[in-house]
Amino acid sequence: MYILETAKQMKYVLSSGNKKTTHLQGKSVISLFYENSTRTRLSFEMAAKFMGCANANVSSSASSVNKGENLLDTARTIDFMSTDILIMRHMQSGAPHFIAPHVNASVINAGDGMNEHPTQALLDMFTILDKKKTLSGLKVSIIGDILHSRVARSNIIGMQKVGCEVYIYGPTTLIPKDISYSGAKICKSMAESCEGADVIMGLRLQKERQKKCLFPSINEYSTFFSVNKEAVEAAGKDVLIMHPGPCNHGVEMPTSVYESENSVINEQVTNGLAVRMAVLYLLISRRNV
Ligand code: NCD
Repeated sequence: MYILETAKQMKYVLSSGNKKTTHLQGKSVISLFYENSTRTRLSFEMAAKFMGCANANVSSSASSVNKGENLLDTARTIDFMSTDILIMRHMQSGAPHFIAPHVNASVINAGDGMNEHPTQALLDMFTILDKKKTLSGLKVSIIGDILHSRVARSNIIGMQKVGCEVYIYGPTTLIPKDISYSGAKICKSMAESCEGADVIMGLRLQKERQKKCLFPSINEYSTFFSVNKEAVEAAGKDVLIMHPGPCNHGVEMPTSVYESENSVINEQVTNGLAVRMAVLYLLISRRNV
């Protein structure tokens, strides 16, 4: 909640005529991305720039990683350039946790494999709080490829901590077998997951992580698991429609739902900047103590 409160202040800054602050002046922030990204990478980059620090991005495809350098050497090389904060995205679950003890920089997880994506969950919670004015007692329904989704995992943990009730729904093959331990309620139908929901979150079908055929066809998937008009109607007129992006239109939800009045998908993008500014600011403040 402290991070979300700080992000609220950052959102004021973003909406003012002058987005520049001096919170990170004299510091350096480097992003190391081993996977493709538009929103996460750019919002961290812009957040860092708005707050006045030296900032650079390294993508694995354009670095010495392509010459065979290992993750530890790459991270240490960045660290020895007097880096204060290292933002990492990696396809292996746990990669940022592996690196953190070996570097002086503070490490931020920008998504690690199928494990977690903490700043995405924070920006999702921020968006809900902004619209609903509370998080407590809300029914949040997360629909789709839960198995491969780090966004779902971080949201299931975070949202329950702040008092939401989290429901999940998707093809049985895309629901992790041990997920009931997380406290999320597994639904048996779209109607059960969406009825009375305050928030419906669609998730991208993460085909790059699916090593075998887990559902018959995209057509069948979209017929049964797309967040369609009926799903939205079952929830009610005040439901918030969310998606972390990128979205496969017509698969996870039709364009009409993606662009409906209930959709806060574009706000999620803007709030991502505010939340990442807050995270960078709080980490730098802690390092300065
Ligand atoms: C998510 C990710 O990379 O985990 N996207 C994002 O950060 N906005 C979800 C996804 O790629 O499907």
